[in-house]
Order: sequence, then C-alpha cells, then structure tokens
Amino acid sequence: MVVYMIGFMASGKSTLGKRLASTAGWKFYDLDSRIEDMEGRTVADIFSQSGEDYFREVETDALRNMPDDKDMVIACGGGTPCYKDNMDFMNKTGVTVYLKLDVATLGQRLINARKNRPLLSDMGQDELLQYIEGLLAIREKWYRKSQLIVDGMKAEPGRLAELITYLPPYNRGQGQY
Ligand code: S3P
Repeated sequence: MVVYMIGFMASGKSTLGKRLASTAGWKFYDLDSRIEDMEGRTVADIFSQSGEDYFREVETDALRNMPDDKDMVIACGGGTPCYKDNMDFMNKTGVTVYLKLDVATLGQRLINARKNRPLLSDMGQDELLQYIEGLLAIREKWYRKSQLIVDGMKAEPGRLAELITYLPPYNRGQGQY
C-alpha cells in the first residue's frame, strides 16, 4: 500500500505522514528530501539555479522512482499533484490523502516558515496571504481529486490508518472526515 500525503505547503504532510507511518509500521519518505538526494542540492538551490520547470521535471521523475517498499507513506510537495499527470499517477498507484487547511491557518504557519520555500521566501505578510488564497484556489482542483480529504486540524494517525486500511477500493474517492 502506498499512501500519498498531499496538500498545500505547511499543511502538515510530513508531520502527519511520519506519525501515520510509525503508527501503521510502514516506511516513510519525503519527496522533497528524495529530490535533494538525487540532485545533491537543496530545493531552494534547484529553483534558483535551474528554475521551477526543471524542478517539476525532477519532481515528476522522483515520484515515479520511489523505493519499492510494500507499505509506505510518501509526503509530497505542495505542487506535486498539480503538474504533469502526477495526480492521476498517484491515484492509480496508491491512496491519496489531502490534508485540508484554511488560508488563515496556512498563512500563520507560513509566515514563520517561508524562508526555505522558494515560492514564498521574499513575500511580506499581506502579499503572502493573497498569494496563498490565489494559489490554493487553483490547486484545490487537483487536491480535491484525492481519495480521502482530511481536516488538517483534526487529523489523527490511528484513525487515518484505519480508514486507509479498511476502506474498500470501490469506496475510495468518497471518504471524508
Ligand atoms: C512547493 C512546495 C514545497 C517544495 C517546493 C515547491 C509548491 O514542498 O516542493 O518548494 O509548489 O507548493 P512543501 O509543500 O513540503 O513545502
């Protein structure tokens, strides 16, 4: 079973993904870290030295070349589902979980955590909130194709593991909590 954690920057994909993996006894991988290992440089350096288009190519490639563990949780980048046919690929190869948070909460988290995020690093507070609102509205189109949509403020690893494990494949796409 491959579980893909998706959602906006700072929605808690890695934090919840790690807790889910440890609760269920599955492996955990972070897609940005895999990209950094593959490239031997940080995501910020990839953006500034080679540009976003190049980053999206590498991201797509990394997503398709994850280790072959039987059970694993992969925390994706905020943009991963929105480029190439990544969302379809993830829906075909695993369970997609969208961690949903509102703009205000994302703004609060990102104002303190924007420095290592190349898309946001130079923004002030007002610009940041407007940017999050605009980008989230665009990205939700992809995020909403997830098989499970989870409230990012309430998500709980044990409950999520249970849902993922026992949700029959034909019901996937309808689960929300
Ligand atoms: C991005 C999100 C980042 C990282 C890159 C681009 C995005 O990951 O992949 O900076 O386009 O939203 P996080 O969501 O883990 O911050």
